[in-house]
Amino acid sequence: MIDNKQLMGFAIAARHMAYAPYSGYRVGAALITEDDQLFTGSNVENASYGATCCAERTAVFKAVSEGHLKLKTIAISGGKGDELNMAFPCGICRQVLREFCDPKKLKVLVGTSSEDYKEYSLQELLPESFGPEALE
Ligand code: THU
Repeated sequence: MIDNKQLMGFAIAARHMAYAPYSGYRVGAALITEDDQLFTGSNVENASYGATCCAERTAVFKAVSEGHLKLKTIAISGGKGDELNMAFPCGICRQVLREFCDPKKLKVLVGTSSEDYKEYSLQELLPESFGPEALE
């Protein structure tokens, strides 16, 4: 079983694969699904800037496209160049995460190392959210 510290480590490692020649802001994400599978992702930028995909969505889409639709925990690390800051997920990524979890249960880890991170629920980061239940 991968613990929170290890998951932060995977997020930091995934950041090495960031393709960020335009912003220089490199992000890595690592997530665990409810069925205990690990998926990682990095941001992938594009010369047509709007075509960029964030690290969190890269990881989520990898999981979902392989049949793992329930997310348990996601760890995120990011920053400009070699520097790591508290890299909070953007609004679009928060909404994408919302689709594949119970927001009270999904843990979001944001940090700069395996020792230095904070844990949030998606509920805290995206209160009063809109989700699939609304369309039932
Ligand atoms: N980025 C992410 O990967 N995740 C976020 O939640 C925020 C932003 C990326 C997108 C772009 O490649 C760069 O950071 C600057 O916005």
